[in-house]
Amino acid sequence: PTEKKITIGDVTYERDSWTNITPKVLEHLGRNLHLQQYHPLAFLKRRIENFFYKNYPGRSRSPLFTLFDNLNPVVTTEQNFDSLLVPADHVSRAKSDCYYLNENYLLRAHTSSHQVELIRMGMNNFLVVGDVYRRDEIDKSHYPVFHQMEGVRLLTKHDIFRNENLATELPIFDPNGLRTAEKQETHTLDAVYILTKSLKTCLNELCQELFGKDVEIRWVEAYFPFTHPSWEIEVKFQGEWLEILGCGIMEQKLLVNAGADDKIGWAFGLGLERIAMKLYGIPDIRLFWSVDSGFLHQFQVDDPYTPITYKAVSQYPQCINDISFWLPADGTFTSSDFYDLVRSIGGDMVEQVSLVDEFHHLKKSRWSHCYRIVYRHMQKTLSQEEANKIHKLIEEAATRDLRVEIR
Ligand code: PHE
Repeated sequence: PTEKKITIGDVTYERDSWTNITPKVLEHLGRNLHLQQYHPLAFLKRRIENFFYKNYPGRSRSPLFTLFDNLNPVVTTEQNFDSLLVPADHVSRAKSDCYYLNENYLLRAHTSSHQVELIRMGMNNFLVVGDVYRRDEIDKSHYPVFHQMEGVRLLTKHDIFRNENLATELPIFDPNGLRTAEKQETHTLDAVYILTKSLKTCLNELCQELFGKDVEIRWVEAYFPFTHPSWEIEVKFQGEWLEILGCGIMEQKLLVNAGADDKIGWAFGLGLERIAMKLYGIPDIRLFWSVDSGFLHQFQVDDPYTPITYKAVSQYPQCINDISFWLPADGTFTSSDFYDLVRSIGGDMVEQVSLVDEFHHLKKSRWSHCYRIVYRHMQKTLSQEEANKIHKLIEEAATRDLRVEIR
């Protein structure tokens, strides 16, 4: 029986055809792992914060960057998409990708949602840390909730061309410019070069701070609707390239809309779990949510710079069950609906779900999917019977709620 309304804190949200949030996902709101005293995500957050405080001292001893780590994860579609110039038909808005409370509200899919409101408030240099929510596959590195840290730095003409003479001679805006691979139409190439250099220096040093002086770093061209040019940064960790953040020169239109039309700026967003898993050797993303002392005890240190390598308490065995079904003929089925259903019923006992086979039956004119579900408890051995029980419940719920036909 689904309640008519969803209540979060003291606000209620009406359900509508967009609503796809599950009670299981809502349970994660307010856990605030990044604000815990002893938690790997909180340690990493503090290390990055300190990096910015140390490298960007402001006037009169107060740091240049302001930190926002307690903003409401419930945001409007305006904040999450429109304010960031995400086109109305962009794939990232799909119901299959985000957790919507209703047509107008969703759980933020990235910390970029707060860029415009903070710039409008008058902030020029700020960091945002928080939980973000995305519907995704299920495996050791994906979870419907993870944490991001956003950084924004806005500069005036005088900040860009420190030397007073240059600032009067060289413009940062070009009223007749063209958009190219290197720059936006309204920017001058001079300004973009200097801004890009400031961004690269900052993030290269941040990567060195986290992964060590000798870390190999590569900048890969990327696309985001709210930056141009844009890049993703990858670092080499134990022989593998690891994508850790997205960044770029902020779209001028966004700054104009936010009331900062005399400035130009850069922004980045990084995923904390990705990095923390590598730095602390945490093998499974579910562990961050553990309330078990076997996990938490290993992070009971006061200094966030203490090197810690997680030691698996013990690896309990897996139980693997497959589920095969015919999809409903009306085309309404999506894999992410199934993943959420598995999460809702199996909770953290599910380690991984993967689509192992799909085929189209010509005569029946229907699709069949087979998913492999790997069950493994983090704190005890699951018997095959216990796994079978959950598996059965998943079959029943899929038949009832997603109208599939078990084969
Ligand atoms: N919000 C982007 C993401 O979640 C990352 C990003 C932030 C990219 C800021 C550019 C600038 O993937």
